[in-house]
Amino acid sequence: PTLTIDASKPVTAVSPTLYGLMTEEINYSYDGGLYAEMVRNRTFHDHWPPFEYWTVVAQKSATAQLKYGSTGPSAALSKSLQLTIVDAGPGNEAGISNPGYWGMAVQPSTTYKGSFYAKVDHPNVAHARLIADDSGNVLAQAAIVLPVGDWKQFQYVLHSQPNVTASSRNHLELTFEHPGIVNLQLVSLFSPTFNNTPNGNRPDLMKMMSAMSPKFLRLPGGNYLEGDYINERFEWKKTLGPLVDRPTHRGPWGYQSTDGMGLLEFLKWCEDLKIEPVLAVYAGYSLKGYHVQPGKDLEPFVLDALDEIEYVTGDPGTKWGAERAKEGHPKPFPLHYIEVGNEDWFDKSKSYDARFEQFASAIRQKYPAYKLIATAPVTQGQPDVIDDHYYLTPEEFFSPDQNQKYDKMDRKGPKIFIGEWATRTGSPTPDFGAALGDASWMTSMERNSDLIVMASYAPLLTNINPGGMQWSTDLIGYDSLRSYASPSYWAQVLFAAHLGDHTIRTSGSGLDPRFFWSATTSEKNHMLYLKLVNASAEPQAITLALNGVHSGSAQLSSLHAATRSATNSIERPNAIAPVQSRVNVVDGQWKHTIPGNSIEVLDIPLK
Ligand code: AHR
Repeated sequence: PTLTIDASKPVTAVSPTLYGLMTEEINYSYDGGLYAEMVRNRTFHDHWPPFEYWTVVAQKSATAQLKYGSTGPSAALSKSLQLTIVDAGPGNEAGISNPGYWGMAVQPSTTYKGSFYAKVDHPNVAHARLIADDSGNVLAQAAIVLPVGDWKQFQYVLHSQPNVTASSRNHLELTFEHPGIVNLQLVSLFSPTFNNTPNGNRPDLMKMMSAMSPKFLRLPGGNYLEGDYINERFEWKKTLGPLVDRPTHRGPWGYQSTDGMGLLEFLKWCEDLKIEPVLAVYAGYSLKGYHVQPGKDLEPFVLDALDEIEYVTGDPGTKWGAERAKEGHPKPFPLHYIEVGNEDWFDKSKSYDARFEQFASAIRQKYPAYKLIATAPVTQGQPDVIDDHYYLTPEEFFSPDQNQKYDKMDRKGPKIFIGEWATRTGSPTPDFGAALGDASWMTSMERNSDLIVMASYAPLLTNINPGGMQWSTDLIGYDSLRSYASPSYWAQVLFAAHLGDHTIRTSGSGLDPRFFWSATTSEKNHMLYLKLVNASAEPQAITLALNGVHSGSAQLSSLHAATRSATNSIERPNAIAPVQSRVNVVDGQWKHTIPGNSIEVLDIPLK
C-alpha cells in the first residue's frame, strides 16, 4: 500500500476557523459543571418537591421550619425560603443544608467565596460551614452578623485548612444562632474560578477547552437556544446584570437553569479563551413544535436579535452597547457569524424559509458584514453558511458515503458549518472506537476545509454522576472535584493543534478501507502536518511516497488503544493519552508501519 504526498504545492486554503466549541446547558454543563457555583437550587426554585436539595439541620434542642416566603430581594426573585427558628442559641443553631451538585468539592488551603440575601425580624448571627459528609468534620467556616432591616446581600469567605483531604463528598450548612424568622434568597458559594473572575468558570475545564486550540464558541445552543416552548427559549435579556435580577428559566434538558451563565458570561468565556462567539439567535421555533408566524408576529423576535447583536458588538454609545458597558465590559466583542435558530429542519410547518429570510433581511440591513448561518437548507434569504449535524457510529463515519460526502459537493453554494458532530459509542464519554470515527471524520473535514469553514463537536461537557447526563457520549467528563478527557478529546487536541494553512495533493493505493489521512502544510511554520488514522485492528505497513519534505527527524504524536472499547474514565483518566516520540522520515520512499487502532500525527519539516 502506498500513500503519495506532494508537499511542494499547496492546493486549497484551510479554513482558519475550522475547529471550535459548541456547548449548551445539557448534562449539567454550566450549573454543576463549568459555572463554578457550588450550591444547587440557590434561588429555591418553586418546584416539586419543595425546596429541592435543601434540608433542615438543627443542633441540640433548636428547631427550624421551612416555608416559601412571600417577599424576595428583587422582582426577578420575588419569593424566598423562610425559616422559622425556635429555641436556638450560641452552640445550638438551626438552619439549612445543601449537597451541591452530587457533593461539593473541597480542596486543602483553598478560598471559597459565598454570599446570600437575607431579611431577618430579629438580629441574628449566621454560620456558613463546609462539612465533610462522612465524618461531619468542619472543613471551613465563617460567621456573618445579620442586623434587622430590609433585604440585603451578605458576603462570606470560607478558607479550608491545609490538612483537608481533597474530596467531593461535602456539603454546605447555613445555620443561625438566634430564634426568629429568617428569609433567605440566592444562597451562593463559589469555588476558585478561572482568572479569579467573579461569577466565573472552573479553571480545570477552561484549561481543557483551551488545549483544544478552538477558534470559536457556538452559543448558547443547541436545543437550549430554543427551549421546549417559546416562553422557555434562551431569553438573553433576562440573563443580564446582577444575579439577583435573573429570574432563572427551565431548560429543555429537564432542569432549571440558574442563568448564572448569561449572555455576558458566555462572551467573557470566549474572551478568556481568546476566541470569537458564533452567536445563535432565537428564530421563532421551539422544540415541542411551536413556531412564531413569519411577518408581524415574528417582528419582535427579529428586533430582539438586532438588540442582541448590538449588545455583543455595539460601542458604548449604542443602547445595548451601553448596557454591556454598564455591566463592566465597554469593549465590544468581535463577531463574524450569526446563526439563525437551531435545527429548524424539525419545523414541520416549513415556516423556516420565511423566518430565515425575515431575520436575514433585517440583520443584513443593519449589519451587512456578518455571515449568516441557516440551520437547514432554505429557498429564501440566501444563507452564507449551512449548519449540518452528524451524530453517527464509527462505521457510518468510516463509510465512503460519509467520508467523501463533501469531496463531491458543489463549491458554488453556501459554505458549511458542521455545528454538531460526534461518533456516538461509549458512555458517558466516547471510547477509542469513537475517537477513530472522529479522527476519520476530521480527515474529511480538513480535506474539505475550503468548504467547511467551521466545525464543533457536541456535546462537549457532562457531569458523570447518575442523573447528571441527558445525552450519552460527551467529550469531557467531570464531577465536582475532578475532570478527565476522553480519547475523542485527545484526537481533537492533536488534530486542531497540528493544522496547516493549505491542503496538498495526496493519493492512496492499496490501502485498507479503514485507513484515513489528512495532509496540510503551514507556510509560517514550514511544516507538513500529516495525520494517519488506522481504524482497523491490524497494523498497516505502508510506503509513503513523499515529495518536498526534509529527510530527518520528525515529531510523532500517537494515540493508540488495544481495543475499540478501551476508554478513559474519572477513575482512570489517563488510560489513553497521546504519546510523543521522534521518527526519521525520508523524502522519497519512506516505509512506515501504523499500529492497529491508532491515530498518528506527524510534524515533518518541509524542504
Ligand atoms: O447536542 C445535543 C443536541 O443535539 C442539541 O441540543 C441539538 O441541537 C441536537 O439535536
